Amino acid sequence: MAEPPVHMTPDEFRRLGHAMVERIAQYAESVEDSSILPAVRPGDVAASMPRTPPEQGEAWSEILADIDRIVMPGLTHWQHPRFFAYFPANGSFPAVLGDLLATGLAQQGMIWQTSPACTEVETRVLDWLGAAIGLPDALLSDASEGSGGGVIHGTASEATLAAMVAARFRLGEGAPEPVVYTSTQAHSSVVKNARIAGIGREGVRLIDVDNELRMKPDALRRAMAEDTAAGRTPCFVVATVGTTSTAAVDPIAGIGEVSRESGVWLHVDAAYAGAALICPEHRWMIEGIEAVDSFNFNPHKWLLTNFDCSTFWTRDRAALINAMSITPEYLRNSATDSGSVIDYRDWHVPLGRRFRALKLWFVMRHYGIEGLRQHIRHHVALAEVFEQMVRGDERFEMVAPRHLSLVCFRMRADDRANTRLMETLNASGQVYLTHTRIPVLGEEKTVLRMAIGGTQTDRAAVDAAWQQIQTAAGAILETM
Ligand SMILES: Cc1ncc(COP(=O)(O)O)c(C=O)c1O
Repeated sequence: MAEPPVHMTPDEFRRLGHAMVERIAQYAESVEDSSILPAVRPGDVAASMPRTPPEQGEAWSEILADIDRIVMPGLTHWQHPRFFAYFPANGSFPAVLGDLLATGLAQQGMIWQTSPACTEVETRVLDWLGAAIGLPDALLSDASEGSGGGVIHGTASEATLAAMVAARFRLGEGAPEPVVYTSTQAHSSVVKNARIAGIGREGVRLIDVDNELRMKPDALRRAMAEDTAAGRTPCFVVATVGTTSTAAVDPIAGIGEVSRESGVWLHVDAAYAGAALICPEHRWMIEGIEAVDSFNFNPHKWLLTNFDCSTFWTRDRAALINAMSITPEYLRNSATDSGSVIDYRDWHVPLGRRFRALKLWFVMRHYGIEGLRQHIRHHVALAEVFEQMVRGDERFEMVAPRHLSLVCFRMRADDRANTRLMETLNASGQVYLTHTRIPVLGEEKTVLRMAIGGTQTDRAAVDAAWQQIQTAAGAILETM
């Protein structure tokens, strides 16, 4: 009979696992000493790996040596305190420990029966979080008595897709040419999802925005009327709370009114900005939330929960289930048949699912809601300081209102000079920020985004970045 392979023993795991935790702690302590962007060219990392896997198992010391030789030099250091690019992707030790435990327990929570704890902890933790950010009862499992509720997706893109598919199914099979509406400033995932869902790019209307880059409800109403008149079916609206370029906030109340008139599904994408709702002073952003069908944000961006954790709530869980539930014989079980449990596989695309709620539970319990508020307020205050720095230097200008911890600014110079400024800064390895293009007084311009929100980002990091920005800008402007 064939023998099993040689497994790592619990004692070996204990010893090596302790050393791995030590490695992670040391990484956090020393990440500031690394260049944020690595000095690798495309293909370098892959070229340092053999083309074929080992036939015989290797010593752990050899595996770890390759982490130092191959992996570490090829990392972009998202946890560096002067990482200001894109949006943050927070890591925290409570979340790391939650993820470690989830992996160690190796649960597969596809249906309630395959892991009651994986399912029910998730339901309760999402009720906690939903209430903590001010969502209405209709979106919570407990308070809605089972008509609404929350679920964890991997990403905001997947959450939007699930909502889009449910909205389309809710229209009924016969509805001709479903149309999706979102603003010109919405994340590209909306168009991507329309393609995936078979609606296609031609079924997406990008609605005009006002001068603060917020969707115009009147333009939405007009677009829907045009489509209806042409025999198409308005189906799904995505409003964004915190757009990717400038963190602009679409007016949910106005958009909700238009959506209700046409009976379309309104989804709110608050991928980045949703974390700030933990602070009551930022809840103005979701005025009108009572009208939405679904809401999503990413604790893996700015709420101290390691990727991946994208939290989604809906008032109409039946719409998701109707659209996505198919029960083959091999998944039948008495708990599902009783109708008294949640099978989260019916709420999204994947069947299998990890115990992601553990890390979110750990984060919420370790920091408490008040600790999470401190995290957000700390960064918003730093962004206010940075905005004042920009306004205080006449060589620079603000190009969009600052929202939360995102500051969009540019040098008073052409696009090429601004791109050069960004590239000079990023090449230094000491600071990392990214750009976007937005209309500034009617003309598309290149704009730098200072996205403050790293777990370790503090006043010293912002001061150092600003000093570097000023020095680099001075040198560029001198050559012009
Ligand atoms: C507003 C918005 N929506 C969606 C996304 C996509 O997020 P994810 O990577 O979780 O799909 C982003 C990413 O930054 C975003 O800013």
